Amino acid sequence: MGFLQEIGLERPVVQAGMAGGVAGGDLAGAVSAAGGLGTVGMMAPRAFAAALAEAHRKAPGRPVAANLLVPFIKSAHVAACLEANAALVVLHGGFAPRFLARLRAGGVLVFYTVGTAQQARRALAEDADGLVVQGVEAGGHLVGVEPLMDALARILEVADGKPVLAAGGVADAADVRRVLAAGATAAVAGTRFLLTPESGAHRAYRERVLAADRTLVTLLFGFGWPLRHRVIPNAATERWCRGDQLGPRWIRRASRLSGPLGGAVPLGMLGRMLSLQRPALGLFTPALPLAGMPERTVDAGALYAGETMHRLHDVIPAAEAVTRLTP
Ligand SMILES: Cc1cc2nc3c(=O)[nH]c(=O)nc-3n(C[C@H](O)[C@H](O)[C@H](O)COP(=O)(O)O)c2cc1C
Repeated sequence: MGFLQEIGLERPVVQAGMAGGVAGGDLAGAVSAAGGLGTVGMMAPRAFAAALAEAHRKAPGRPVAANLLVPFIKSAHVAACLEANAALVVLHGGFAPRFLARLRAGGVLVFYTVGTAQQARRALAEDADGLVVQGVEAGGHLVGVEPLMDALARILEVADGKPVLAAGGVADAADVRRVLAAGATAAVAGTRFLLTPESGAHRAYRERVLAADRTLVTLLFGFGWPLRHRVIPNAATERWCRGDQLGPRWIRRASRLSGPLGGAVPLGMLGRMLSLQRPALGLFTPALPLAGMPERTVDAGALYAGETMHRLHDVIPAAEAVTRLTP
């Protein structure tokens, strides 16, 4: 049986897990109810468990996935995925063999997000059930290093017949058809679903994405998690990334040193730190502006978005986004 049938998915359309409350129960539930695979993004364990339950309430009998960012995983996150009987858990931003083994032992399918053949080989050596290939055009934190179609071809060669999902630059049904024709099992879209009323992003963040004229890859918002990320410009990047997109050396160094701290700081606290951030201060966590936060956070926080922003011009209900992505 193929992966889609195994989890009961009708359409080869997956909504990317987006952490911090962007992809909560509302968004994941709406996507799964519409026949796609909704994914609850990472949050503090209690909120994460509640969001998984909410997604299931909104999409009864439908599969719902979960996303975990490796540096921030706590045992309680794994317990929440098992308790919710997640259809799939996608691990992003590193390798976590112990947590993978625990999830698999509980009967949950686990995929790793990878950007290179080398990472894919390691993921498969750890016995991952499948892979998400991320192209460098993706929004958010990047393990992707080359355009999606190149990475997909390279990784399919080493995937050993395991399901491979394709992420980065997927905005419409034609993109989904393209990755399926190249051998992917399904397509994953993030920015498309950020631009829905069900996403937890601040309204002004969504408006900025629609108005932006470019993205940049930086390390600026790296305090606690020094992994490259694709964002659209705001006052913080204008202040610090003019000379070098990655940001000033001293900020990068501070981020590198803060790396081990990341996992120790509760995710909820990173969100609260965002209201203390100022464009001029030079200390930026990975937290992103959510509905209910002060509007000024839009100029002090990371506005993650992928290259699809050039082709996305509206905020539409998540169910409509699933329809537009369905080949
Ligand atoms: C706002 C935003 C937040 C994201 N957060 C996560 C995350 O928490 N975990 C993860 O695995 N990927 C995350 N990503 C990356 C997505 O998984 C995916 O690779 C990316 O969205 C695909 O590119 P696209 O945005 O062009 O569709 C995020 C992307 C965006 C735009």
